[in-house]
Amino acid sequence: MNQDVLSSILERHAETRGALLPVLHAVQEAFGHVPPESVTRIAESLRVSRAEVHGLITFFHDLRLEPGGRTRVQVCRAEACQSVGGRDLEAAARQLTGLDFGETSADGSITLDAVYCLGNCACGPSVRIDDTVHGAVDANRLAALLESARSDVSVVNLGSGASAPAAGAMLRVFVPSDTTAGAVGADTVAQTLLRAAASRGFALELVRNGSRGAAWLEPLVEIERDGQRIGFANVTTADVESLLEDDFAATHPRCVGAVEALPWLVRQQRTTFRRIGRTDPLSLADYRREGGMVALQHALTLSQQQIVDALKASGLRGRGGAAFPSGIKWQTVLDTPSAQKFVVCNAEEGDSGTFADRLVIEADPYQLLEGMVIAGLAVGADKGFIGLRIEYPRAAGVMSQALERARADGWLGTDVLGSGRAFDIELRIGAGAYVCGEETSLLEILEGRRGTVRAKPPLPAIKGLFGKPTLIHNVLSLVAVTSVLAEGPEAYWGVGIARSRGTLAVQLGGNIKRGGLVEVPFGTSLRQLVEDFGAGTRSGRPIRAIQVGGPLGAYLPPSQWDTPLDYEAFAALGALVGHGGVVVFDDTVDMRAQARFAMEFCALESCGKCTPCRIGSTRGVELLDKISADDDRAANMALLEDLCGTLTNASLCALGSLTPLPVMSAIRHWPEDFAAG
Ligand SMILES: Cc1cc2nc3c(=O)[nH]c(=O)nc-3n(C[C@H](O)[C@H](O)[C@H](O)COP(=O)(O)O)c2cc1C
Ligand code: SF4
Ligand code: FES
Repeated sequence: MNQDVLSSILERHAETRGALLPVLHAVQEAFGHVPPESVTRIAESLRVSRAEVHGLITFFHDLRLEPGGRTRVQVCRAEACQSVGGRDLEAAARQLTGLDFGETSADGSITLDAVYCLGNCACGPSVRIDDTVHGAVDANRLAALLESARSDVSVVNLGSGASAPAAGAMLRVFVPSDTTAGAVGADTVAQTLLRAAASRGFALELVRNGSRGAAWLEPLVEIERDGQRIGFANVTTADVESLLEDDFAATHPRCVGAVEALPWLVRQQRTTFRRIGRTDPLSLADYRREGGMVALQHALTLSQQQIVDALKASGLRGRGGAAFPSGIKWQTVLDTPSAQKFVVCNAEEGDSGTFADRLVIEADPYQLLEGMVIAGLAVGADKGFIGLRIEYPRAAGVMSQALERARADGWLGTDVLGSGRAFDIELRIGAGAYVCGEETSLLEILEGRRGTVRAKPPLPAIKGLFGKPTLIHNVLSLVAVTSVLAEGPEAYWGVGIARSRGTLAVQLGGNIKRGGLVEVPFGTSLRQLVEDFGAGTRSGRPIRAIQVGGPLGAYLPPSQWDTPLDYEAFAALGALVGHGGVVVFDDTVDMRAQARFAMEFCALESCGKCTPCRIGSTRGVELLDKISADDDRAANMALLEDLCGTLTNASLCALGSLTPLPVMSAIRHWPEDFAAG
């Protein structure tokens, strides 16, 4: 281990508060792992014990004390990928590499790891190879990907704004840059397009826009002609020559006409996502032209209480899952006296089947920054943190650049838009732990500790990050703030039903024909979403079950699909809206396997603080295995139900208390899958 490299990392973080995780990331980046001999120096430099350093390393899936392989292959094991053959892909990955998850090949070429959602849930099964996510991967494709990884063929990732200037009128061509578009080939399409255009002398300006969220059409290449954006869907590299040859004519077989006239988009009510796909995510000019900064300019004319009152009047509820009224939380932080306060954006987005936070960050990052600045001004905080999951490397890259540009543009830093008020934001990357999406767990890792959940009270709004009042919100809640202030709280409240106001970003994933981001008012039914927008399953088979709200969400049978999307209506069913993930399964799904996975996931991700979750989840897996083996079935079914009751009532946080939802809903609605035979 090179001591000078370690010294420079430690020096770089000398002033960072809660530096342990950023330091460990930097050390792992430099050395490929965290060398055990670095632990003592890290501990001394950060004035923590060696046990604390080890504690953090061993808490996370993504930190390692041993060297890994030259290539890291992560196979998604989560529900949306399971619904389209993910379990077969897991088996193929083991067979092709000769490794089990967590192992490295003897020649040091490959480490095989499991991952629980890569945010590519509409185009699974998903695999990540180093920093590149691949979608719709089957065993053959995985074999090819492994082959090219072994021969070190790198995948080109073109940034935004690349162009191939040539003579004549310049045609603007948009190729989406988000994770899902990339996972199904957009980067290679962009690269091929540039090369082919240059060799033909075709005057083309390539814009890497965000994505429209229509994952089923990706790569959705667009051109701008006569003030209209014309789309070409599912473009492959093989289509590039003919597109250029035809001058992107409307007669080309890939042409889907005017993108904004596509019924799939027209029938949505896009508010939070109104800009995505239209703009270059990092262009501040695009952002302003498309309505950005109006909310912040307005907020600067209001008092802190007026901003909080607007939030209250809007009826906005937190989008991270708990649906707590935002205005009440903002008021608590505002009313708690303290010289220092913080805003924390929860971008952990660990729920399988969800990708809306990722899409915001990759396709419209300034909207999140604008929402956070407004939040800071309102509650009296001058510092914000974004806690982003490590599974989103593209989002991390886009957000780092967006932060730099926003600072250079004068709306982050010591003097926000010349107002004399300060607010700056730091991006922090997680290290692979679902529980770190729980707000107090996230605060713990931001402070440099294991992500063990804290007991509440005290609420983070009163005693949060570094013991200071902290406003912690999901990405979607913070971006909704810009709509509330730009269009007025009444407009926001005017959409939705009952106590669920505004729009919901539904993420349609799993076994669905037309998956992607569908923003609709609360009150829309699940049936409308999966049948009208989703057009049924990708496999063409009947839908059997729909899981809503991530791994802690219930499985809903057809009799419940007409329930309006509304927090209270779903709660009455014993189900969750959660973060809006909708994962569709066809009639080949084995609900006993899904129930087992729910328990297994809880056991894997439990922070370990309380016994029902830590031990009970493992007992749950064992019970389901006994039921599968027809071992004293009736008694074990009764025991499982009893165990679920204990988890529900005696767990400290929702990881333990909600795991029974998927398990018990599977048993209740599909008893035949738990019967003998
Ligand atoms: C196990 C667990 C995981 C969670 N994961 C997330 C997450 O990934 N993102 C998120 O915003 N909230 C997550 N939450 C909810 C947060 O604890 C918290 O309610 C939320 O960040 C508050 O923001 P909001 O008011 O905007 O919803 C999770 C909760 C639990 C119990
Ligand atoms: S329920 Fe599970 S994750 Fe939550 S505090 Fe208890 S052990 Fe930790
Ligand atoms: S990418 Fe596999 S579940 Fe989300």
